Amino acid sequence: MGGILAVLSPSKRNVVEHVIRGLKLLEYRGFSGSGVALLQGNKIAVYKDAQRIDVVAEKYNLRNLSSWMALGHTRYATHGKPHADNTQPHTDCSGGIAVAEDGAIAGYELLRDSLIVEGHKVVSRCDAELVAHLIERELWNVKNFKEAFKRVVAKLEGFFSIAAIDSSCRCIAAYTRGPPLYIGVSQDFIAVSSGKAAMLGLADKYFKLGEGEVAIVGEDGVKVEALDGTGIEKTFSPLDVDPRYADKDGYPHHMLREIYEVPEALMRTLYSVQERYLEFAARLVAEAERVFMVGNGTSLHAAYIGSYYLTELAGVTPIVVSAAEFPLYHVSNVGPGTVVIAISQSGETGDVITSVFESKLRGAAVLTITNYIGSRLSNLSNLYLPIGAGPELAVPATKTFTSTLLVLYLLALRTALYKKRISADEYRASIEDVKKLSRELREKLQSIEESAEVAAKALATCRSGYVVSRGLTYPLALEGALKLKEAAYIHAEGVEAGEFRHGPQTILEKGIFSIFIMPVEKQALQATYALLSLSIEKEATTVAIGFEHDQKLEEMSEVIKVLVPYATRHLAPIALAIPLQFIAYKLGVILQRPIDSPRYLSKTVH
Ligand code: AGP
Repeated sequence: MGGILAVLSPSKRNVVEHVIRGLKLLEYRGFSGSGVALLQGNKIAVYKDAQRIDVVAEKYNLRNLSSWMALGHTRYATHGKPHADNTQPHTDCSGGIAVAEDGAIAGYELLRDSLIVEGHKVVSRCDAELVAHLIERELWNVKNFKEAFKRVVAKLEGFFSIAAIDSSCRCIAAYTRGPPLYIGVSQDFIAVSSGKAAMLGLADKYFKLGEGEVAIVGEDGVKVEALDGTGIEKTFSPLDVDPRYADKDGYPHHMLREIYEVPEALMRTLYSVQERYLEFAARLVAEAERVFMVGNGTSLHAAYIGSYYLTELAGVTPIVVSAAEFPLYHVSNVGPGTVVIAISQSGETGDVITSVFESKLRGAAVLTITNYIGSRLSNLSNLYLPIGAGPELAVPATKTFTSTLLVLYLLALRTALYKKRISADEYRASIEDVKKLSRELREKLQSIEESAEVAAKALATCRSGYVVSRGLTYPLALEGALKLKEAAYIHAEGVEAGEFRHGPQTILEKGIFSIFIMPVEKQALQATYALLSLSIEKEATTVAIGFEHDQKLEEMSEVIKVLVPYATRHLAPIALAIPLQFIAYKLGVILQRPIDSPRYLSKTVH
């Protein structure tokens, strides 16, 4: 996973400096390793290390090298820890083909085993390397790089984009099955890139490669075709990236870019979590005598929702505790037979590390869920599942929250399957629901952002307020309140809707807001409509976050609504989190907060 930048100069200009600069701009997609593959004479030379591109360029004196065709990559580790061997680009056994990939290929372990059995020298734990060997294998049959490339990508499954260069055809082949890939051109250069901003200085117009399309970039220009060889006409648009925000791929803040990445991150997560390890994790949880879930902040909120999943689907009821509290009162109940599920986006949070350390001392097994492979937490745990959302640079967590929920959902489903509480068909249908949700969210993000802006304008006039929900979405209320504090410095309290009537409602008045996340449990809905009416009656600014086509909600004209496409009950917290994230972001913009780096906070609390 990470960022791809391949450049070819038909006029034979040197592209090396451009690739180094572009990879720097792609670091928001990953920085656990970087490298370039350069065409030098009739050979491909690869320069890479588990470092950022600046360090790699310095180490190999790359700026003194010259090449008119190059393939660069900046890595985010999902398969294989950060290490020089796992860094991309990868080559086949002959060294004539170099490949860079973004995303994750399904069935990695089996594919790797089969290539090794056939005699390929697989040197890394990275799925991109397998593609180089697969193309090499296909070339034995078709003797044509373009055809071999097409045959390979057609057979792969997963959520990935690939660019490959070949020393004999002296061309770039590119393909996507989901992650963005842009093709930009100018008089001297043709670039293939995971991000538009990385093409600044290389291209003045571009197009986006469609899913399932192949681009072949050669000395004679760029051609796009379908896998069956049918030519596809593409329309170029001017490269419209604001250079001030080039490091955020043109977005004014990382937080906004990361919210826009939520649907894509869900797909990345789906394929980053490998079957073999999910199965181990499910067995561990199913057979545990006692399960704890620990985390802080947003990760703790995800744990609460995860505990609803495990309870309902798998019949396992974990004890969810803040990692700060866990060592104080709970470790005395930890021993062999205990499983501790430790959740941390960064994998470096001090309280989570302490909880894990104390648990291991007492003989517990630790299952970590983290976005950073190679982090202290992943190294300390017995088993880890990757969040796989890609780097998150804004301090307020967004896409890692929704992707953590997905990992927890997958774990609960797999545990339920292991315990035969659901069938294989039900399991597969749930996975299809995730893909459907990702597609629908992607289509609706802009309109959700627009409604969130309307809500934020109204909320900006308030001094304080509540985020309220019930059932599976109750922990979302806690998360929404946290987001408002972080991104907008607005005081907010997350409240369980049943509890709202036991005190909190007393301070409803003008200047106070209440944001209701509509519950997904039918029996809780009527009471929530009643609370909405009460909030309006008391002149509090009232916002409802729910699903489209909620007739009753639509009739409540004074309620400001931010609606999302329908999601199945278990996936609802993922969909309904997005309006909360947008509202907090928009409020932060209106109130001119330093959204990506709130005061007194850092991304990792050691
Ligand atoms: C999230 O928006 C916050 N920045 C914060 O609460 C965070 O979730 C918490 O510090 C835990 O971080 P972790 O997931 O990296 O362990």
